[in-house]
Amino acid sequence: MSEDFDPTAHNRVAWDELVDSDNEWSRPVGPEVIARAREGDWSVVLIGHEPTPRDWFPSELAGARVLCLASGGGQQGPVLAAAGAEVTVFDNSPKQLARDEEVAAREGLVLRTVLGDMRDLGAFEDAAFDIVLNPVSNVFCPDLAPVWAETFRVLRPGGSLLVGFMNPDVYIFDEVALDRQELVVRHRLPFSSLDLSESDRTRAYGTGPIEYSHSLTAQIGGQLAAGFNLTHLSEAPHHADVTAKHLPAYIATRAVKP
Ligand SMILES: C[S@@+](CC[C@H](N)C(=O)[O-])C[C@H]1O[C@@H](n2cnc3c(N)ncnc32)[C@H](O)[C@@H]1O
Repeated sequence: MSEDFDPTAHNRVAWDELVDSDNEWSRPVGPEVIARAREGDWSVVLIGHEPTPRDWFPSELAGARVLCLASGGGQQGPVLAAAGAEVTVFDNSPKQLARDEEVAAREGLVLRTVLGDMRDLGAFEDAAFDIVLNPVSNVFCPDLAPVWAETFRVLRPGGSLLVGFMNPDVYIFDEVALDRQELVVRHRLPFSSLDLSESDRTRAYGTGPIEYSHSLTAQIGGQLAAGFNLTHLSEAPHHADVTAKHLPAYIATRAVKP
């Protein structure tokens, strides 16, 4: 890979292509979901298809300032806006953000969309948010420390960070064999699809986003090192592949800024 390869620029194009190919994480919620959310009956995911426990959120969402971080696709932001929150959706993909804008226009919802890289939240003031909701996405980000530092900065004291991420262990397996629902141990952790040869990466990921396994030290240790206090942790199996028979592919955490 050339010296000046920019994984974030690559992943922006790759995610826009995933939107064009109707990837499941880019399919916006329907009018019935928004109608229920307006009545207080709402749920959003951080990991796979698992509804995030309501007690991870304040009992009253009305007026809460929520940053939906790397959460484009029209699946979380519009639901929380319909439930009364003041929502900003931040994402690296213009087309993923367009999905949130589409739902907001369709439903007459107010929400703000901001394009950018989750490692730089300079668009926002210190303590600008009460909640940061960050579904599985940091797998596409080369380093996490700036993400934790920036989310800590933009949260008010007492604010909460809800994160979904991949269990790094799933990255020991060969991707092509996984597609055949076979578990073949091939990689050493930490792993990045950039470690693969161009031909192997194209065979396994096509033109898809670059992925990084990240360690639990970087994920959970990183949040603690940034100053967060962990309050909740949950795990879930992958929603579609054979790893689900053996280990939890997803982990979600809730942490608070003291
Ligand atoms: C799996 S989707 C998460 C949102 C989706 N609605 C869901 O529930 O899964 C991953 C998102 O992360 C975004 N993303 C990837 N790298 C990013 C980065 N460096 N900064 C901000 N967003 C990023 C992608 O554009 C994509 O919208």
